[in-house]
Amino acid sequence: MSTTFKLDTSTSRANPTPQPMRRLTVPNIRERKSDGVTREPLVMLTAYTARQAQLLDAHCDILLVGDSLAQVIYGLPTTVPVTLEMMANHAAAVVRGSYHSVVVVDMPFGTYEASPQQAFESAAYLLKISGAAAVKLEGGAAMAETVAFLSERGVPVMGHVGLTPQAVNILGGYAARGRSDVEAEKIVSDAMALDVAGAFAIVIEGVVEPIAIEATRVVSCPTIGIGASAQCDGQVLVTEDMLGMFERVPRFVKRYEDIAAIIGKAAAAYAEDVRGRKFPGTDQTYQPKD
Ligand code: KIV
Repeated sequence: MSTTFKLDTSTSRANPTPQPMRRLTVPNIRERKSDGVTREPLVMLTAYTARQAQLLDAHCDILLVGDSLAQVIYGLPTTVPVTLEMMANHAAAVVRGSYHSVVVVDMPFGTYEASPQQAFESAAYLLKISGAAAVKLEGGAAMAETVAFLSERGVPVMGHVGLTPQAVNILGGYAARGRSDVEAEKIVSDAMALDVAGAFAIVIEGVVEPIAIEATRVVSCPTIGIGASAQCDGQVLVTEDMLGMFERVPRFVKRYEDIAAIIGKAAAAYAEDVRGRKFPGTDQTYQPKD
């Protein structure tokens, strides 16, 4: 589907042509799984900017403003240093650039774990500043009380179990989880605890496939896999990984493009034109009117 944008100069709003679909809601996402069955898998991609959101929106059900922006946008080594302000500003840009998808924003490390009250204040700030519809937070049973507290107070929550990157300093890296029986049972029981607490969906990241399938079977809400299983109720990838922006490709990523090569080729051609005084040409310069 091809969408173009016309800029309304009075509001700086880019209006899409053709008119977009109605924006989905959190209940629409939750209802996609009914009696344990999801007929149409949920499509989620990360987005961090307005233009990226414009390009992805029509193809997705959910745009996730992930704290993976730490590495993807800011060149940080982990997601640990991400702040509420960073997330709120990027989420606001994604909301401005989208009309159809539910926008979910990650709660950064250190802004929700201390207490349900701390989580509510942080989530309310994120939703007020950005206009996003929901938050995502990492952790299983330990976060169940917080998920219930938020959900009962108007903040829809997406859970995140398995490999939880904000816990990198405890986990010691980003290896797949669920290889031992104890770990496998914990992932499934974590997913169940979030489901009972009221999470409207749960990301299952970096777990061995049978565990992802079992967690998907036992919870009533949709699961969204990344490095998990095609049998999850939906899938998510970091958009830049999927587009081939980075040399390193995690095993679970399927590359749909080689954008890094395209950008490198365009930059090299531009540099050659500038150095050869071939740019700007007559088409790109202003001449005095006769
Ligand atoms: O931050 C992120 O992009 C995520 C997805 C990988 C699920 O949490």
